[in-house]
Amino acid sequence: MSQRDSFGSRFGILAAAVGSAVGLGNIWKFPYMAGENGGGAFLLIYFVCIVLLGVPLMTSEFVIGRRGQRNAFGSFKKLAQKSHWPLVGVMGVVAAFAILSFYSVVAGWTLEYIVATIGGSLAKIQQGQMGDYFANFIDNPVRIVLWQLVFMVLTALIVAGGVKKGIERYSKLLMPMLFLLLIVMGIRAILLPNSAEGLKFMFYPDFSKVSVKTVLFALGQAFFSLSLGMGTLITYASYFNKEENLARTALNVSIADTLVAILAGVVIFPAVFSFGIAPSSGPSLVFITLPEIFRQMPMGGCFQLLFFLLLAVAALTSTVSVLEVVVAYFSEEFNLPRKKATWIAAASISVVGVLAALSFGPLKDVSIFGKNIFDSLDFTASNVLLPLGGLLIVVFVAWFMKPTDVRSEITNNGKLKSRFYPIYRFVIKFVAPVAIATILVYSIFVGSLG
Ligand code: PHE
Repeated sequence: MSQRDSFGSRFGILAAAVGSAVGLGNIWKFPYMAGENGGGAFLLIYFVCIVLLGVPLMTSEFVIGRRGQRNAFGSFKKLAQKSHWPLVGVMGVVAAFAILSFYSVVAGWTLEYIVATIGGSLAKIQQGQMGDYFANFIDNPVRIVLWQLVFMVLTALIVAGGVKKGIERYSKLLMPMLFLLLIVMGIRAILLPNSAEGLKFMFYPDFSKVSVKTVLFALGQAFFSLSLGMGTLITYASYFNKEENLARTALNVSIADTLVAILAGVVIFPAVFSFGIAPSSGPSLVFITLPEIFRQMPMGGCFQLLFFLLLAVAALTSTVSVLEVVVAYFSEEFNLPRKKATWIAAASISVVGVLAALSFGPLKDVSIFGKNIFDSLDFTASNVLLPLGGLLIVVFVAWFMKPTDVRSEITNNGKLKSRFYPIYRFVIKFVAPVAIATILVYSIFVGSLG
């Protein structure tokens, strides 16, 4: 067999993994979830989920991938021969289909907004009319599907380039750009009049808003945002070198991802409060509320362009990582050349994706368990497949892998100190499985009620 592709540098690994984690989840989903679930209180619970469950689960995915040296399915197959564990990898591929199909719809919207900002058509819209503009846009099947496909093609072009020459190269370029854009936007937002109100909303925990649902959403959001539970990080870790410190990388990626989510809040909430808009305006916060605000800001058009560029860049490095799960699986398990695997994967995902795109227009009356196609894909992936995958992954590492193998991955064969190893072991053996299982059961139950 020819040599497997791999990442070329530590910075490359970090950029790619952070690129996967940082995406629409941080900039589009996180602010509206925090807005709807009590701001600072949500943030606090979210932190607990990240530290207690996110970092240990991410470390566990890294352990499987680097030990297995294959795609998510193949890694399980190698580590647990003649068992049903590889099915977790198949579940990851299914989750990848579900996530990419709805994710690419929203990612496509960002392209429409970039073009409409540059072309000046967004600037012409009257104050207060953004809601109508957006409603018209998502009702237009041709435009939505077109942008979605453009986004899928961009994703596929990067993935087709390979791990080092595609994924790593673009992540190293795009991620620093994203941080820069975010910081510029954050400073701009803090300088707005009355921005302190927004910051207070974001950081001051008001526990009267907290309910069981808050915890469910925070966990689902933490998994989604860190790209956990579906083999993305198993796949990426199979391209890590043997010197990479897995636990430290997991910690760094989680810190970077959380920082971006907070920064996104710092960009959005001061603006929202400064212009007297309710923070809880749901998924449309970014596509209706923000453009209304940009309209009233000096040089708003410029900042609007920067913002949607930021969103598109963030989304792109994430869609790349989701597609890679499927491509690595197709190419290694079915012996396809990478390019062919990429286009087959992208094309087949686009078929499901188009259904998600149309669920705002022509297919808006099609409902599955009371949700439209877009929402059911999101729900199935974020609230069912990711927590279930995450649960099985920690159980696998904690209870089925040989403890000496796990330890040797974490310590790089004894080269690294393992002060936190006993805590990690305890968490993945007991705390994480119980917590995730409880939340999963509630999530399906409450989710299907709500
Ligand atoms: N973490 C990405 C985000 O926050 C989404 C994602 C989920 C990517 C699962 C890969 C796997 O936008």
